[in-house]
Amino acid sequence: MTDEAAEYTSSLEFDKIIFEADIKTNFAHTLMLKEENIIDDEIADNILGALDQLKEDGYNELVFDPSVEDIHMAIENYVTDKIGPTAGFMHTAKSRNDQVATDVRLVLRDKITETQIGILEFMEGLVEKAGEHLETVFIGYTHLQHAQPITIAHHLMAHVQALKRDYERLEDTYKRVNLNPLGSAAMTTTSFPINRQLTTDLLGFDAYLENSMDGVSSRDFISETVFDLSALCTTLSKICEELILWSTYEFGIIEMADEYSSTSSIMPQKKNPDVAELARAKSTIVNGELVTILTILKAIPYTYNRDLQEITPHLWNAVKVTQDTLSIVTKMLLSVKFKEDRCLELAGTNFATATDLADIMVREKQIPFRTAHKIVGRIVNEATASGLKEADITSEYIDDIASELGFEKLGLEDDLVQKALNPLENVKMRTVPGGPSPAMVEIARDNIKEFLNEEFEKKGI
Ligand code: ARG
Repeated sequence: MTDEAAEYTSSLEFDKIIFEADIKTNFAHTLMLKEENIIDDEIADNILGALDQLKEDGYNELVFDPSVEDIHMAIENYVTDKIGPTAGFMHTAKSRNDQVATDVRLVLRDKITETQIGILEFMEGLVEKAGEHLETVFIGYTHLQHAQPITIAHHLMAHVQALKRDYERLEDTYKRVNLNPLGSAAMTTTSFPINRQLTTDLLGFDAYLENSMDGVSSRDFISETVFDLSALCTTLSKICEELILWSTYEFGIIEMADEYSSTSSIMPQKKNPDVAELARAKSTIVNGELVTILTILKAIPYTYNRDLQEITPHLWNAVKVTQDTLSIVTKMLLSVKFKEDRCLELAGTNFATATDLADIMVREKQIPFRTAHKIVGRIVNEATASGLKEADITSEYIDDIASELGFEKLGLEDDLVQKALNPLENVKMRTVPGGPSPAMVEIARDNIKEFLNEEFEKKGI
């Protein structure tokens, strides 16, 4: 190859991340060759010793001259340098094709676990914050228009449920990542009597991949993981979008911590939510990486093609962007202060409690919900037109409108009407499982706490 072609095709630039994994893979493979008497004991021990030495010396001890195409060659050269040409025995019954697939799986499984722990920590913080806001009444939106009262706790716990699914998706994907391709060699295994179960155990894989062609060339474990990351980033981006809206003067619901805001170089009064904006933008990178990976994969005939090398930098970038974004969004959201007065103010205006006024008509006076809906709709229209607020709605006012519409007078008690229109009462009455009443949200928090305990324990935390 010309120097230019060698540089163009080299993976060295992004192989650093698999450095330790490649030592592990070589170690397990060599140990297996020794155990199965495929290579001489002494030679095997020398190779294992050199690999141990490299682990201690670290990445910087590797020599990268232009003839070295990738990390696998650099590591083999290092061993050769230490023990001489018998180092060549370590490549018996092995190819860089099964080796790289093994390395990527080893690193990725750890990255998945790290990301999962990050999700659990975020969930834990949100559950705690929700506990501080069980009765902080706030407005819920549909179509970004005032819909019905909720609490900040209920809103935060909605994000917790989304994060739980993001976590579970990764948990499921992990099963398909943690499989061993080693022993597939170039694509058809080998005529040496290797022991695939042994390398599987040594490397902590759940099982080995059962088809050697699939073993060297399948990368759907990567596209699947990146989809999971993309879904997680979607959750994070939605959170950021809300924080940005909520921090505006118009919403005025939150105060972002100074640590996660910036100011303007010209407008001294500004406090900008830059971290949230960048997190919203960076999440998009992961979507892009997913499309890149899927597009590379769709045109690859069996088995190994060099195109597969080009997938990994996109995978690692997706992992890094996701982990960085998860970490900063966690800290940013947990440091947000909710302006409780403003939240309550929004929940108590625009007749967001109108559904309950209709509900008491159904409950107390047995009139069909559709009729109640019509009456309340007219009440809201007329009251809004004449500048009346929730507190001004009396039983008499309701009956006047009911009569106007040709219905019988309802004779609802005034305090019942006011209770229905009170946002906190409104929320408290929603005691159906999944609802925003403080009692139900408390149950939801308990369930999540239990989940978190179990999962933290599984992850050894
Ligand atoms: N750097 C390569 C990769 O990442 C390693 C495998 C090379 N195999 C080969 N047949 N050239 O895929």
